[in-house]
Amino acid sequence: MKPRLIVTRRWPAAVEAILAERFDTTLNASDEPLSPAAMASAFADFDAILATVSDRLPVAAFPEGAARTRIIANFGVGFSHIDVAAARDRDIVVTNTPGVLTDCTADLALSLMLAVARRTGEGERQLRAGEWRGWSPTHMAGAKVSGKTLGIVGMGRIGKATARRAHFGFGMKIVFFNRSPVDDDETRAMGAVQMPTLDDVLAASDFVSLHCPGGAENRHLIDARSLRSMKRCAFLINTARGDVVDQDALTGALERREIAGAGLDVFADEPAVPEALKRLENVVLLPHLGSATEETRVAMGMKVVENLTAFFEGRPVPDRVA
Ligand code: 8YV
Repeated sequence: MKPRLIVTRRWPAAVEAILAERFDTTLNASDEPLSPAAMASAFADFDAILATVSDRLPVAAFPEGAARTRIIANFGVGFSHIDVAAARDRDIVVTNTPGVLTDCTADLALSLMLAVARRTGEGERQLRAGEWRGWSPTHMAGAKVSGKTLGIVGMGRIGKATARRAHFGFGMKIVFFNRSPVDDDETRAMGAVQMPTLDDVLAASDFVSLHCPGGAENRHLIDARSLRSMKRCAFLINTARGDVVDQDALTGALERREIAGAGLDVFADEPAVPEALKRLENVVLLPHLGSATEETRVAMGMKVVENLTAFFEGRPVPDRVA
């Protein structure tokens, strides 16, 4: 008997084909997220749930009694949408997909930095609206990126990859905040300086890029007070999780020009994006595209296949987080 698994969204076709061959797989042709009732049935009917960030799995979503599900294999590196303690209590293994989306997420952090500082979204909107009056010396002058100071919050894989691009590609100085000490060849090669507090990094940086996990431990790490620690000419970039930033406080700071701008790929309550943010020109808003390339999405799916195959063959599971 092949293990029964349910894929909660559409996945790249190549990955769905392998899943269907190896397992008794239920796909989601409609790509509609599962309702809470469908998720509750999934715990009763399937050995594995193949989840994404669009599934909410707080403790209340887990069954009270025995579940058939033995593993939640998440498509994505961040897993703050899954209550891992609730999973652990029920002997449900949780896995993620680290590594394969590092480059693309770092690429997107750089594209947000460039887009917001050089006002490319604003410029494109103006041109498409037929409002461009031609070149002029003062037209849409933005902020220079090359040579500035980038502050990284969370110097893990993606933080380092972002810093590497900024330093070696754009000659940026790198400072960072990380809870534990980071002192390795990679950070030394960039001359990256670990600062004792988050405030030190916020005060020193022209760009602040967030790369820490979401969830309770980092909720509103960037709040009204920390936004006031940033330079007025500085930009905030978030490709991590929306809940790391107090979104209302950020909107206010952008409206009052207390910081120069923001580049956001993630939001507090996706896919809802407040109208107040959409009205602002000094913010670039993307629909959670960090890992959205063909290559990376297939690689993420293949990581899930590896995790499931190891699990059901009784081997150590490579990317187990609970
Ligand atoms: C994914 C992400 O697209 O991996 C993550 O943590 O935020 C994105 O790259 C998303 O999580 C899919 O579940």
